Amino acid sequence: MLPAGTKRKIIMDCDPGHDDAVAILMAARHPSLELLGITTVRGNQTIEKTTRNALHVCQWLGIEVPVCQGMSRPIVRDPPPVEDRLHGDSGLDGPEFPPLKKQADRRHGVDFIIDTLLSAAGQITLVPTGPLTNIAMAIRKEPAILEKIEEIVLMGGCYQLGNVTPAAEFNIHADAEAAHIVFTCGRPVSMMGLDITRKALCLPAVIERMEKIENRAARLFAGMMRYFSMTQKRVFGWEGGPLHDPTCIAYLIDPSCIEQKSMYTEIDIRSEQSYGRTNCDYFSLRKEPHNSRVAVNIDVEKFWDIVEQCIGLY
Ligand code: RIB
Ligand code: CA
Repeated sequence: MLPAGTKRKIIMDCDPGHDDAVAILMAARHPSLELLGITTVRGNQTIEKTTRNALHVCQWLGIEVPVCQGMSRPIVRDPPPVEDRLHGDSGLDGPEFPPLKKQADRRHGVDFIIDTLLSAAGQITLVPTGPLTNIAMAIRKEPAILEKIEEIVLMGGCYQLGNVTPAAEFNIHADAEAAHIVFTCGRPVSMMGLDITRKALCLPAVIERMEKIENRAARLFAGMMRYFSMTQKRVFGWEGGPLHDPTCIAYLIDPSCIEQKSMYTEIDIRSEQSYGRTNCDYFSLRKEPHNSRVAVNIDVEKFWDIVEQCIGLY
């Protein structure tokens, strides 16, 4: 734990994506966090679209941090289909954004991660909420960054049901080789998997609650969530979209909202049917050293209170 009043330095690596956008909104203004920059990766949409969406969110909210475009495809396999069923053709359908003026930083996302870590006086927490391609590439390109990584707090995986195959969650499945590199890198990994993120459903009552804040962040939240909930109902039959990525930020702001269990997690990069599965050894059957702290429960009421607090900071 940091001394009181110290801001935790973070880099977000994301694929906006409606839930990534809410995570950016939360991370950028909370007094306990210092968002050093945003790197983008192909995932929910192409790299061009996820980058444009990150810029739109920053411009709408007045977030003055570098946005650096990262990897446009997984390390080994061909790119999987984008998730336009849920996020639309733009990757952030719903809100009407004004003409984009904010430009991406000229640095590649992988180089931004490396340079920022190496030049930092202390450690930095990495918060990937998309496929792990950029993080893995940074680790392989410059292993010296590892000692500067305080923790990797990622949205991905599941020890129960997948969402892109029965076995696998989207972010891990999109680049399982990258996930293998991250889960074997030796740095602390906190995994916010579908097992708990699916409990954070943005129901109509939540949208109405946040809309009452009546500021630019509330308007963006409502515009995004009305679209996201519509597509989630159409595809999965849920009454509200699960806010997967914001669970990472809520955990950073108040770790007590997430219950974690230390486990050995192995990424399946060999099989076809279960490719991208996070095999979380819940009962320590493998007797392997634990390499992850896996979220096993979430205090949903506390989570929404944190989201509301963050929206109110704009
Ligand atoms: O499986 C959910 C994850 O995949 C979320 O991060 C969502 O934004 C997509 O990236
Ligand atoms: Ca995401």
